[in-house]
Amino acid sequence: MAYQNLIVEKRGRAGLITLDRPKALNALNAALLEELSSALKDFDSDAKVGATVITGSEKAFAAGADIKEMQDLDFAGAFMADSMAGWLDIPAIRKPIIAAVSGYALGGGCELAMMCDFIIASQSAKFGHPEITLGILPGIGGTQRLARFVGKAKAMDMILTGRMMSAEEAESCGLVSRIVADGELLEESIRAAQKIADYSLPSVMLAKEAVNRAYETSLEEGLRFERRAFHSTFALEDQKEGMTAFIEKRSPSFKNR
Ligand code: CAA
Repeated sequence: MAYQNLIVEKRGRAGLITLDRPKALNALNAALLEELSSALKDFDSDAKVGATVITGSEKAFAAGADIKEMQDLDFAGAFMADSMAGWLDIPAIRKPIIAAVSGYALGGGCELAMMCDFIIASQSAKFGHPEITLGILPGIGGTQRLARFVGKAKAMDMILTGRMMSAEEAESCGLVSRIVADGELLEESIRAAQKIADYSLPSVMLAKEAVNRAYETSLEEGLRFERRAFHSTFALEDQKEGMTAFIEKRSPSFKNR
């Protein structure tokens, strides 16, 4: 697929997707969404890729869903097309996805980052849900995911006032996994993706699935799922290799990467 709104490349075993609508601060329009979904699916089925990084520009990861595209939408149109439902397939990607966020991650941009498995932010990153200032509310999971990630008080504050959160605040409340200096974001994020890509892929995918279960089921069911997944790793040659390598004091060479 030829991409108009993304730059798609590989760095070693890491896939790298750069949102590329600089004049619109990477506002997420339908064309970009379709391309992103396609690029993620391609990497998910590419044996040479073990994890993907999604990033934007220094000024904006993404400034939200495209307001110009939504301006004339009416209820019937939004409802009949089930507007924004296309995003639902991003969490179905089985290999890990890291959001590398610099600058604005607002509205749909924040929602996209939250759909990734974790967020690495540069010091200049700003997160927010300004939809209320436009007379709407988040529509791609913001009310649900932000509340789960940062708790009710902060989610209400962000969504009802529309204020932005700094990288420091986002890290302190659990939205962001780590903050890196401006200028080191891409390198650090790709390094993290490559580290993941060097591990046993079935175990990585099971681990991702198990953590996600924590948000979808009871503790008892989640623990049972984790145990069954844990048991299944003992059917992998990679488990033998990983444990043998530890005992032999050498680096493992996983077969299923
Ligand atoms: N949609 C469409 N275009 C956008 C956009 C968006 N979400 N955000 C920015 N742009 C465009 C601007 O219209 C502008 O284009 P023109 O030059 O053609 O006028 C260009 O990007 C640069 O933007 P600004 O001039 O506004 O840049 P700034 O540095 O002064 O401000 C900003 C930056 C604070 C991020 C500001 O652009 C802004 O507030 N953007 C909108 C943020 C927002 O409300 N996001 C939520 C969208 S709704 C949503 O996402 C709903 C959902 O959950 C489904």
